[in-house]
Amino acid sequence: MHTLSEFPNLFILDHPLIQHKLTLMRSKERSTGGFRTLLHEISLLMGYEITRDLPMTTERIETPLQAMDAPVIAGKKLAIVPVLRAGLGMAQGLHDLVPSAREGHIGLYRDHETKQPHEYLVKLPPAEGRLFIVVDPMLATGNSAVHACDVLNRHGVADENIRFMALVAAPEGVRVFHAAHPNVKVFTASLDSHLNEDAYIVPGLGDAGDRMFGTK
Ligand code: URA
Repeated sequence: MHTLSEFPNLFILDHPLIQHKLTLMRSKERSTGGFRTLLHEISLLMGYEITRDLPMTTERIETPLQAMDAPVIAGKKLAIVPVLRAGLGMAQGLHDLVPSAREGHIGLYRDHETKQPHEYLVKLPPAEGRLFIVVDPMLATGNSAVHACDVLNRHGVADENIRFMALVAAPEGVRVFHAAHPNVKVFTASLDSHLNEDAYIVPGLGDAGDRMFGTK
């Protein structure tokens, strides 16, 4: 994992397995099924890094040989919040790691003219004492990411209790996001070059939702 001085709070997960799988996903030859499987695998690997600093405590247990104070994750409850629809493809990997996590949903669609997000669904677990991990594969303009975190703030979740997980990010979007939510850590597998005139990430991987679900 590394950071760049220009982008405080952006953590680039450069593990070889993540990078290799991302390259496979980017290829336009990848099938829908292959794309989905790889996204699931990468979110498992990213989830491993994102949860690295969860607070720990110990619990008294007995092994077959003796009693011990063994490490366990301290009572911090987790919520996974995919931004619909593409975020769904990254949520299951986190659930596999933390089966007790609650799942909320934020439904946004992007107006193709204005590039602005429109909210059509918000369903969230109680905020109290929870760490919220928002997942959306593409952090492009940053508008949806900002909107999703605004929704969580309205719901009573402070920025300190939010993390954002994106597969690929664009510098433009990271800047917009940090201006609005400077205390939310963003984890990504790649900081790509730029956005094109249609607000797609370049080189990116195309439309993540379409590639995941086989739509157009
Ligand atoms: N959303 C996508 O799915 N892909 C992009 O490149 C940008 C936004």
